[in-house]
Amino acid sequence: MIPEHARIAGEDALNDAIDILKRGGLVAFPTETVYGLGADARNPVAVRRIFAVKQRPANHPLIVHLADVSQLAQWAQAIPDVAWRLAEQFWPGPLAMILPKHPDVPLEVTGGQQTVALRIPDNPLALALLRQFGSGIAAPSANRFNHVSPTQAAHVLSELGDRIELILDGGDCRVGLESTIVDLTGCQPRILRPGHISPEQIADVIGQPVTLSNGIETRAPGTLALHYAPDTPSALCTQSELLQQVAEYLSKKRSVGILSWRDYPQFEGRVRLQKMSDDPVAYGHDLYAALRQLDQQGLDKILVEAVPDDESWLAVNDRLRKATAAISV
Ligand code: TXA
Ligand code: MG
Repeated sequence: MIPEHARIAGEDALNDAIDILKRGGLVAFPTETVYGLGADARNPVAVRRIFAVKQRPANHPLIVHLADVSQLAQWAQAIPDVAWRLAEQFWPGPLAMILPKHPDVPLEVTGGQQTVALRIPDNPLALALLRQFGSGIAAPSANRFNHVSPTQAAHVLSELGDRIELILDGGDCRVGLESTIVDLTGCQPRILRPGHISPEQIADVIGQPVTLSNGIETRAPGTLALHYAPDTPSALCTQSELLQQVAEYLSKKRSVGILSWRDYPQFEGRVRLQKMSDDPVAYGHDLYAALRQLDQQGLDKILVEAVPDDESWLAVNDRLRKATAAISV
């Protein structure tokens, strides 16, 4: 029985969470990146429920979360040396690795592919859950398909509260953007999704260059345009485009919101400004909550001001492009 509203609870609900997972149910839990929607990764029926609840196409693979690197060989095979080195350096942490899957990993988890995504999250509640569960937990971000990822328990409640039983509340996610995904199954390591751990950090550890995916050939929803999108029409623009657009919207008496690291005092009281940090890490941490805030205002349009096009902004830039992919000004 799924209650109309999920229960939100802390560490005291760990035993309940384990019970729910063991009988094939779903539990949302915090990680350092975003909240995950977890199911027993060995239970194909439970995994299918994730896809149903999220309304996510079944061929989009999930990340399996582990408690400890000693579990890696139960989930992957032909594990290359670089994977062990990356695990040692970055786990627990915001890095997911794609490896050849162990034959026992259900195809439901991998979207039918022979590879599997694995990571150990760096969050005490997630690690306690994973340790006590003793096996892998498959978990995509705990939002409906194509929506903004949740970085607080309240976000999960608003996304999926009517569809799941329990949300473990670990407060605000420390990183706030999804993990870096590195594919280690090809000739050269490839970043499928940029995140807090940069390509340079990965290249430093493995001693060889990594390429950035163009995002076209992989079946990864994080690489599809319009992933992470608010419901309100949103556009990414330069400052001059933004100024022009705001003037236009105001002259038509339409409501507009701005997401920018700059201040716009000239629009005070007329435009909803979501002021962001000029530091990429802090900006990334706040991004999804800020988009959610703006999305709730019933605005006609959200204008997102472009951020610098350099390495330190890679992950933020990726998410901004995806959040605004449907519309260009
Ligand atoms: O930070 C994160 O990674 C969060 C937290 C909950 O761990 N999870 C997350 O899951 O972002 P999700 O499902 O929203 O994104 C997982 C990404 C998707 O883009 C998926 O396609 C990709 O990982 N992925 C999973 N398995 C894959 C595989 N075998 N090959 C290529 N991409 C894969
Ligand atoms: Mg997601």
